[in-house]
Amino acid sequence: MTKSKIAVIIGSIRPNRQGDKPAKWIADLAAQTGYFDVEIVDLKDYPLPLFDAPASDLWMPTPNAEAAKWQAKLNEFDGYIIVTPEYNRSIPGALKNAIDWAYKPFMKKAVAFVAYGSVGGARAVEHLRTILTELQAVTVRHALHIGGSDFGPIMMGQKTWDDVLPGQVPFTKDVLDNLAWWTNATKVARAADEVAAKAA
Ligand SMILES: Cc1cc2nc3c(=O)[nH]c(=O)nc-3n(C[C@H](O)[C@H](O)[C@H](O)COP(=O)(O)O)c2cc1C
Repeated sequence: MTKSKIAVIIGSIRPNRQGDKPAKWIADLAAQTGYFDVEIVDLKDYPLPLFDAPASDLWMPTPNAEAAKWQAKLNEFDGYIIVTPEYNRSIPGALKNAIDWAYKPFMKKAVAFVAYGSVGGARAVEHLRTILTELQAVTVRHALHIGGSDFGPIMMGQKTWDDVLPGQVPFTKDVLDNLAWWTNATKVARAADEVAAKAA
C-alpha cells in the first residue's frame, strides 16, 4: 500500500472551540501509522460566505475566490478525517456550509470521523455520513466517539484533553486501519478511471 495524503479537518470555528486539540492528536496518531502524510486543515483559515453560488461545483466552476481556494486545498488529499462536535444534534453550520462549497473534492474519496459531545457526537456523524453519501464519498464504518463521561468533564473544566485522549488510543486503530484501506482502494480506482478516460 502506498502512502496516502490525508487532511484532518477541524469542523468548528468558535474562538474557544475544543476541536483543535483532538484534531492535532488524531493527526499525530495517523502520521505514526506510516500509512499517511497528514495535514491539519482548519475551517478558520477559509472564511467562506454562506453558500450563494448559482449551483454546486459539481455543475459549474465556483465563482467565489475563497471557495475556490478551499476546493484547491481539499483537492490535494486522497482522504479526510473530519473532527466534529455536535451542534443541536447535527454538525456545525460552518462545516455543512464548507461541504456545500466542495462537492467534487470529496467525490470517490474516503472519510473517517472523530466526534465529541454528550453522546459522542454520534448524531453529528450520522448526519455527516448521509451528507457525504450525496457527495459520492465513502465513509469509514469505524469512527471515534468521545462521549459525555469523557467530554463532559472537559466542558466543565474538571478534566483536560490530556487526561482523556490517552485512553482513547486503542479505539483509533480500527478507524485508521480502515481509513488507510479505503483511501488506498479509492485512490487506485480513481487512477484507473483517469487512465481509462485518457484512452477513450
Ligand atoms: C450551538 C451549540 C449547540 C450544541 N448542541 C449540542 C448537541 O446537540 N449535542 C451535544 O452533545 N453537544 C452540543 N453542544 C455542546 C458541544 O458539544 C460543546 O460545546 C463543544 O465544545 C462544541 O465543539 P467546539 O468547542 O469544537 O465548538 C452544543 C454547543 C453549541 C455551541
